[in-house]
Amino acid sequence: MSTAFSAMTRPIQLAERINRIEPSATMAAVAEADKLRQQGIDVVDATAGEPHFSTPEHIKEAAIAAIRGNFSRYTPVGGTAELKDAILKRHAADFGSAYKREETCASVGGKHALFNAISVLVDHGDEVILPVPYWVSFKDMVNYAGGKCVLLKADEGQGFRVTALMVARLVTPKTKLIILNSPSNPSGAVMSPEDMTEVVRLAHERGIWVISDECYVYLNYTGENFSVGELNDYRDQFLVVGSLSKTYAMTGWRLGYTLGPAAVIGAMQKLQSQSTSNPTSIVQKAAVAALSGSQQCVAEMREEYIRLRDHLVAGLQAIPGIKCQMPEGAFYAYPNVSAFFGKGGVKCGADVAHGLLHKAHVATVAGEGFGTTEHVRFSYATSMENIDKALERIKGYLGSL
Ligand SMILES: Cc1ncc(COP(=O)(O)O)c(C=O)c1O
Repeated sequence: MSTAFSAMTRPIQLAERINRIEPSATMAAVAEADKLRQQGIDVVDATAGEPHFSTPEHIKEAAIAAIRGNFSRYTPVGGTAELKDAILKRHAADFGSAYKREETCASVGGKHALFNAISVLVDHGDEVILPVPYWVSFKDMVNYAGGKCVLLKADEGQGFRVTALMVARLVTPKTKLIILNSPSNPSGAVMSPEDMTEVVRLAHERGIWVISDECYVYLNYTGENFSVGELNDYRDQFLVVGSLSKTYAMTGWRLGYTLGPAAVIGAMQKLQSQSTSNPTSIVQKAAVAALSGSQQCVAEMREEYIRLRDHLVAGLQAIPGIKCQMPEGAFYAYPNVSAFFGKGGVKCGADVAHGLLHKAHVATVAGEGFGTTEHVRFSYATSMENIDKALERIKGYLGSL
């Protein structure tokens, strides 16, 4: 009896590495909004990190055919040859890249690909240059691998610009990796092809790795779409990570990929072989249909995001005190709300997000999770009606401070 009791109350000794990371701030915001909704409150949700569209029909049909055709066994760890070829052809057609089968690996979402890539590149004590604001998971993936994030504040006045010069100032002998994410979550900022090329060139010169997270590459509204994968001369020093989640409205399906040198891809596949094994066989067939089929669906969703963005940003910019850069990609606006600090007890972005949720019933994600205290992230992957409702409530709340 006493043994059982002491076993129940004994503190659980988890591995040290799990205490180096935090739960996702985005997930926490979603959970808080859910709590209010369960109380019957009409919450307008601007937290969504995913498309509001359904997966296109031809992709769903391919998955159904795969189930009916019993495509239900293990596949090679990094994906079937058919899928790898589809990934390579899509990228070559869109960006003129020239990767081979052994230079790509499919994973269980872009997040999984990034986790594997960071795990095989970053050692204890390595420094990783990470532009701020950053997507929540980069920091935790680096910490989990035992690395140290060196934060680089992007220039908000210039659309959250990051240049090679800014990166160069932070390089030390311990710098192992630079993480780029364009279009960016949370800011929606798009790096110019010139700035990206300069960062990659600098990294190549110094023997530093670059991971270019291009999960939103097809949601670039500048008309000048660019992938680091185009930079053939420097390809032995960078990885490109892509995902079908946002491009084809397939977040729940979980399919991402990496392009890079065969030795790194091999190491990532080795890690994957000891954890998840292959991405779901059926999803691989759906992914082939997505990548090889008509890209009209992508163009249509992109057009709609532009319409939604223009509406939300115009509405935000019309609210006195809000400063909002025009996001050039992804589906987020990241306004600066510091003009409200000191009013109505508000001291930081987290207070604004808290007030918006509890007083105006608009769910957003506070900038703190992305490394800045002056911002709040709004997702516009929602209907025009929801955006209008959110804008009215935001205006009312901020005006009352
Ligand atoms: C910047 C960025 N990278 C990667 C991902 C991972 O997406 P997935 O794992 O669904 O491919 C996300 C998802 O929100 C993201 O915002």
